[in-house]
Amino acid sequence: MSFPNHRPRRLRTTPAMRRLTAENRLAPADLILPAFIREGLTEPSPISSMPGVVQHTTESLKRAAAEAVELGVGGIMLFGVPAVRDAQGTASLDPDGVLNKAIRDVKAEVGDDLVIMGDVCLDEFTDHGHCGVLDSEGYVDNDATLEIYGRMAVAQADAGAHVLGPSGMMDGQIAVIRQALEESGHKNTAVLAYAAKYASAFYGPFREAVDSQLKGDRRTYQMDAANRREAILEVELDLEEGADMVMVKPAMSYLDILADVAAMSPVPVSAYQISGEYAMIEAAAANGWIDRRGAITESVLGIKRAGADTVLTYWASELAGWLKES
Ligand code: PBG
Repeated sequence: MSFPNHRPRRLRTTPAMRRLTAENRLAPADLILPAFIREGLTEPSPISSMPGVVQHTTESLKRAAAEAVELGVGGIMLFGVPAVRDAQGTASLDPDGVLNKAIRDVKAEVGDDLVIMGDVCLDEFTDHGHCGVLDSEGYVDNDATLEIYGRMAVAQADAGAHVLGPSGMMDGQIAVIRQALEESGHKNTAVLAYAAKYASAFYGPFREAVDSQLKGDRRTYQMDAANRREAILEVELDLEEGADMVMVKPAMSYLDILADVAAMSPVPVSAYQISGEYAMIEAAAANGWIDRRGAITESVLGIKRAGADTVLTYWASELAGWLKES
């Protein structure tokens, strides 16, 4: 009787053998926890479409950051929900505004033990919910927005952010932010560019998380889901403009983009497993349709395998806890 020349199953025989021969592994340090803080809250407020995720108070945010440090999580990405919004997103520039204050509070709590990142984008701060300011026709005005992003970046760097995450997809945003940082003496504040960010239906729950006022969509600035090659252009431009790290977002429906970017990027690559991806798995698990822990672990490992060096995921701390115990 002939036998198979190759038996790949040999390396799958025991958990120890599978562990030894695993091509990719997750580590807590690869994970970045996105977190929301809402101005004026006295108790953390649950986000119904993201079971387990809350809008934080200052105190609960500080606790979440300290817990992330304990668990060895790599970083935290902060989003602020202001009490008052206007057409220009003015609250984003106020040193005591919700996001700038949160950066300062988290920095006072954890210092340099966790990489503190701030979202540089106007959508949480504008009363129309767009990521930039509008011209007289209601079109998002690229260059007028850039001027505000530069000042917003300086305010977040002044507050102590280690990394800034411009997520608005304005052309030229990395260059303007880099220049503003250099001119204000923030040479070592790094920029994680949301380089290939697609207009996605999977952002739905995030809009609840930040009480978004948006009517309509972001298709004049975020990328079209049909496009693959264009992601390389966006990454190349951000690298030329001085990005220290680049991101692909969303993650699970864009793993081909992530693999393309990982193959060409000379800088670390992040992927953002967004709110809708979180919500889908939580909803299926709550119905008993999938195994929650298995699905979470597999989804993040898949993102890593596709080429992400770091993964933004709302499960960062929980997953880090599982990784520590195993
Ligand atoms: C824009 C921003 C968004 C997300 C992160 N930054 C919303 C959007 O582009 O509509 C979405 C993240 C998520 O869905 O988890 N500031």
